[in-house]
Amino acid sequence: RRLVVLVSGSGTNLQALLDEIAATGAETYGAEVVAVGADREGIEGLARAERAGLPTFVCKVKDYATREEWDAALAEAVAAHEPDLVVSAGFMRIVGKEFLARFGGRFVNTHPALLPSFPGAHGVRDALAYGAKVTGCTVHFVDDGVDTGPIIAQGVVEVRDEDDESALHERIKEVERRLLVEVVGRLARNGYRIEGRKVVIQ
Ligand code: GRF
Repeated sequence: RRLVVLVSGSGTNLQALLDEIAATGAETYGAEVVAVGADREGIEGLARAERAGLPTFVCKVKDYATREEWDAALAEAVAAHEPDLVVSAGFMRIVGKEFLARFGGRFVNTHPALLPSFPGAHGVRDALAYGAKVTGCTVHFVDDGVDTGPIIAQGVVEVRDEDDESALHERIKEVERRLLVEVVGRLARNGYRIEGRKVVIQ
């Protein structure tokens, strides 16, 4: 299975996928990363892809007259690599109709909170501010909402009294990276069906 991974930042989830595939071999794992895309230049996520010798592409919103044109360009850039599965690993943009028309049902996102709690760009900060005692991460299929698609898997992380946002996010990311590697591998190896809000992995 061919994976295209989308990033916007440090790319540690991407790195976890690359490390797992290097360690177990693409055959055994069931997938290989064929390209990495981003919405901005100069991020560690792209550097990680380049160090791994992978093709990269950048689609910046401000380079396009409308959001729709950006969305179509992103879809084109992803499609050029003929992915079986697209993985958003810290990609901080909401894709639109064109992208979902082409990749809906095979576009997975990881979110650092237990959806439906704390969706959006500040899930860790929001859980902390709310006083949640546990939070965690969610791997889900992307639909036309924000972090609202069918949930594939979740991992729970306790919130500690002394936590600040970055400490809690780091602890969440330890769980999140393992969850993403495990889920992507299972989806790629076993195949899956999405039935309403249920995801059935064969
Ligand atoms: C992850 O926790 C992801 O869920 C969130 O941003 C973080 C990205 O981390 N949206 P990285 O870029 O994979 O290190």
